[in-house]
Amino acid sequence: MTFIVLEGIDGSGTTTQAATLAERLRTEGHEVVLTCEPTAGPVGRFLRQALSGKLTGADGERVDLEWSAMALLFSADRLDHLEREIEPALRRGAHVVSDRYDLSSLIYQSATCPEGEAAVPWLRALNSRARRPDLTLVLDVSPDVAEERRQSRAGEPEIFEKKELQKRLGQLYKRSADFVPRDRLELLPGDGSRAEVAREIERAVRNLPEFGKSAPAGR
Ligand code: TYD
Repeated sequence: MTFIVLEGIDGSGTTTQAATLAERLRTEGHEVVLTCEPTAGPVGRFLRQALSGKLTGADGERVDLEWSAMALLFSADRLDHLEREIEPALRRGAHVVSDRYDLSSLIYQSATCPEGEAAVPWLRALNSRARRPDLTLVLDVSPDVAEERRQSRAGEPEIFEKKELQKRLGQLYKRSADFVPRDRLELLPGDGSRAEVAREIERAVRNLPEFGKSAPAGR
């Protein structure tokens, strides 16, 4: 019944930490659906192709979509994600942990468009039908640490994985509360070891009533 989102720049560790959190909660007997955006669904798969720079036009030449087309696709993927996975899981009483959600759209798409943060109201409107998470945890990682982590990963860099852009994204993530002012959100130090960051996340999650430690004795 709780919807938790992990956010941060590329290489901030959201994928690893989302999996660790889901596993931790499962060991306590909770049903947890671990998911991510872009999703593994049709729109998400198309987005992954766009992110890897593999889209081509009729002449076979590479095509990079406009930021606004990317924004529409990310919100389409999100609404499909909600309908097919998130809402049904929450309805049956499971918890959902998502690696990224609409804060990624507000931050990445405004950072990659010519008008910058002036695009935020339009991006919010595109996502206005997206249910709010119960808790968003932003992993605050320095650009150098994130870059090292990205370089140790296999595969070609995606279109947003450029150092200057990642630095700007990191500055925007520090101001996450300005982008989603009504959401419950925590900025956590993310430069530490996997175990240290996992402990920070666990501490933040224990503040939610569903996962609090203070269950009355004898129950
Ligand atoms: P990421 O989450 O890093 O997945 P992987 O590690 O599997 O490549 O990649 C998703 C990329 O998409 C990342 O650069 C952030 C970007 N993104 C947006 O620009 N807007 C969005 O709304 C979402 C969900 C992701």
